[in-house]
Amino acid sequence: MPHLGDATRGRILFGGDYNPEQWPEETWHEDVRLMREAGVNSVTLGVFSWSRLEPEPGAREFGWLDTLMDLLHANGVGVVLATPTSAPPPWLGRLHPDTLPRDENGGVEWWGGRQHFSHSSATYRRYAAAITEDLAARYGGHPALTMWHINNEYCTADHGDEAAAAFRRWLRARYGTLDALNTAWGTAFWSQGYDSWDAVLPARRTHYLKNPGQVLDFRRFTSDMLLECYLAERDIVARHTPHLPVTTNFMPLFSGQDAWRWAEEEDVVSVDLYPDPRDPFGAQNGALVQDMTRSQARGPWMLMEQAAGPVNWRGVNHPKPRGLNRLWSLQAVARGADAVCYFQWRQSRQGAEKFHSGMVSHAGEHGRTFQEVKRLGAELAAIGGAVTGTHTAGDIAVLHDWHSWWAGSQEGRPSTEVDHPEILRSWHRALWEAHLATDFAHPEHDLSAYRLVVVPQLYALTDTAVENLLRYVRGGGTLVAGFLTGVADEDDRVRPGGMDARLRDLFGIRTLHEWWPLDPGESVECGGFRGTLWSEELEKTEDATTEAAYKGGELDGLPAVLRTGRAWYVSTLPEPGALRDLLTRVAAGTGIRPVLDGLPDRVEAVRRGDLLFVLNHGREPVTVEVPGTHHDLLTGTAVEDALTLGRYGAAVLRP
Ligand code: GLA
Repeated sequence: MPHLGDATRGRILFGGDYNPEQWPEETWHEDVRLMREAGVNSVTLGVFSWSRLEPEPGAREFGWLDTLMDLLHANGVGVVLATPTSAPPPWLGRLHPDTLPRDENGGVEWWGGRQHFSHSSATYRRYAAAITEDLAARYGGHPALTMWHINNEYCTADHGDEAAAAFRRWLRARYGTLDALNTAWGTAFWSQGYDSWDAVLPARRTHYLKNPGQVLDFRRFTSDMLLECYLAERDIVARHTPHLPVTTNFMPLFSGQDAWRWAEEEDVVSVDLYPDPRDPFGAQNGALVQDMTRSQARGPWMLMEQAAGPVNWRGVNHPKPRGLNRLWSLQAVARGADAVCYFQWRQSRQGAEKFHSGMVSHAGEHGRTFQEVKRLGAELAAIGGAVTGTHTAGDIAVLHDWHSWWAGSQEGRPSTEVDHPEILRSWHRALWEAHLATDFAHPEHDLSAYRLVVVPQLYALTDTAVENLLRYVRGGGTLVAGFLTGVADEDDRVRPGGMDARLRDLFGIRTLHEWWPLDPGESVECGGFRGTLWSEELEKTEDATTEAAYKGGELDGLPAVLRTGRAWYVSTLPEPGALRDLLTRVAAGTGIRPVLDGLPDRVEAVRRGDLLFVLNHGREPVTVEVPGTHHDLLTGTAVEDALTLGRYGAAVLRP
């Protein structure tokens, strides 16, 4: 099981990205004083330090970092040391243009921003390995070092010539022959048959729709190439410090990495999470990413980045109202985080992110942001011993797969209104509002431990995944699947009949005549609720039960929700309350109970180990019934049968 290593030792890691190269040395001393005041015990150093460490090719400037490592250590702050390879110095691009990535139009992504590296460039990889090697050799034995952070938010695609050559190698390894590639990509369509590997290109700009097989493989290739970059650096640091954990930070609702695959290569799974403070479902969006990250980690994980206040990359960037930073941080701990960290420690005065908050904002140590950070640091220290290292698995698994997302989100599909992350959010929201504890799983994972498996949408499924779902239901499991599931195979080839025959059989679908996607704002009556986004013209088999039928219009009387035994198929997106009721009913049928009964609106309850976290996401005070006697670790008081939580209030209860 991945772990945070000795870094935690019963403490929740608390801190953030620290970019001292932006500040004069006197500020470093003020930084460590404030870190001590706030209970900061961990910082991530060096994420964007390449040009400071290697100001010209082959040079090494480690003196400033030596000073900082020593200073932090002397002040009890551990260091997650980053390899600086996500932001190469300008000289690298200038001397070696082959290190710069190209977009789909062939345009160069120049230095002057960040992440301007080509994953396929041998030159980039050589320089990245060299600086990684020297960092690991120099600091591997430093007592401040607790963990390695490789690169940052790997996401850059490359359509250039070196990437094209690498793509061909990747495709040769996958398909062996050009015939197999032509078959997988369906190149008989539009005269795309390849006669030579040299003609195969990355998914560059075309006049009209691109070949979907090519696009899908290019996304797989991109994830794999970035993974190769990660592994190369990971292996270097692991050689120097085999005892220290290694991580890289995910952004799971951006689509660039197959995070299931990547997580297998990490000691600690870490994630960056920035829900919008104004979003009424911000807490649920956070919960979704936290559930996903815990499931990838199969244990405690690290919240590598969040914002103490506003970000700077939305159209309108809202601050966090008083108490929200604390509440969302405790929510992450409730869902398994053993580290609560931020981008970044001190808000910048210059550069592209100067209006992005920091733990110490422009208002300084007397500003509300830092005052709230300080309070949170003290509270995390109080509960750290009771929570770290513990893990609680859910009874329900939501299935998610990046390859399926990539295949299903291409151009030329039945409705551009269907957005995969939105579908995931809708289904997760239904479970979240019903207070049902939820894990995520890959469709090929062993699902036998779950009583209920929910598939919001898996457009493309391998045969192995289909068989896995059948085995799960045959073995006594209950399955609920949403529309556009099982449509295509792993090459994005539509299954005969428009949906995998084994799955049609499972759900009791004799014929899937047509899809009837709905316009924005349109809905269909389904007898008791309204369906949105999508509807289907289905003919059921005799043994299937229509649980809800379309009323009126073309589909009048046809099944909207269909069930055969323990397998349910939902051919529309029920409005939120209806989806929640449906999943609550199905879950209850399997014996799954909500975390707590009778919770008021906007109150969330989460179990972690033997602790019960109760979180009020509302602005009004609420009274929550919690039967029995508990001890609130945050207030140090006893709680008998009920507690009152103020606006954004939280309690961490031990029986
Ligand atoms: C990402 C990056 C950080 C910073 C933040 C801003 O998470 O990793 O370097 O840019 O976004 O929100």
